[in-house]
Amino acid sequence: MSLHESPVSPVSPADLAARVDATVAAVRARTSRTARIGLVLGSGLGGFADTLGSLEKLPYGELPHLPSSAVVGHAGNLCFGTTATGIEVVCMQGRVHGYEGHAPWEVVHGVRTMAKLGAQAILVTNAAGGLDPAWSPGDLMVITDHLNLTGLNVLTGPNAEGLGPRFPDMSDAYDPELRALLKDVAASKGISLREGVYAGLSGPSYETPAEIRMLRTLGAAAVGMSTVQEVIALRHMHVRVAALSCITNLAAGILPQKLNHTEVEEIARLKRGDLLTLLEGWIGAIAEKGLA
Ligand code: HPA
Repeated sequence: MSLHESPVSPVSPADLAARVDATVAAVRARTSRTARIGLVLGSGLGGFADTLGSLEKLPYGELPHLPSSAVVGHAGNLCFGTTATGIEVVCMQGRVHGYEGHAPWEVVHGVRTMAKLGAQAILVTNAAGGLDPAWSPGDLMVITDHLNLTGLNVLTGPNAEGLGPRFPDMSDAYDPELRALLKDVAASKGISLREGVYAGLSGPSYETPAEIRMLRTLGAAAVGMSTVQEVIALRHMHVRVAALSCITNLAAGILPQKLNHTEVEEIARLKRGDLLTLLEGWIGAIAEKGLA
């Protein structure tokens, strides 16, 4: 089944939940590690996993139903590890995208698995284009809300009652307390943090300058090709979510230059230091406040 045939999962809701359970069972057969905090590490940001102690990596290809990404910069491992302050986390080192041909329910399989493995708060990261001419490549942005402009919704089709309700509330999809903690950590570490609305598009072509003008009118501050389906699926499961964009470039038409994926990756990697400090501090603060 591919995205081109239908956005509705061909898998029955019971089977969808059973597939997540099968992935969880396969993880459980390999490790007894658990974590209440999860992370999705996006383009060029997967290096965070390699900084963790007692790192255990399970390649997606060795777990049932977890699709592997073909995109450069996306490793494809489910990782368990311990931060420098001794907090256990579970991470997706790399994710798959709709533009690779994966249906939305495949795109979110990894985050649903982390949730079923016990993650109660999940930080989603991504690379994104910035829409504000005053911003610079390398800026980090806390996502306050999103515009799902992919034309798809992962919850389309019969509801998987075992995962969550038919009509999940999205009012505070990006958890205000987790966002506030992230801002506190950034301020205390002297890391500047932007904030704004993320527009999620299907890609894989970058946007046209006209589309970027439209997105600015709609109130978006950043644009990317991931995150929105994952956040919808996690809110469906009542998982607390926060998300952080690494602004790797200014979006099409904002500067008189063309966009390319290699630069997107390089900038994400260059920001590694700040990102690691921020993630580490944020994870510590969540654990300390008992938010997960
Ligand atoms: N547009 C869409 N996705 C992106 C961009 C962009 O400019 N930069 C990084 N991911």
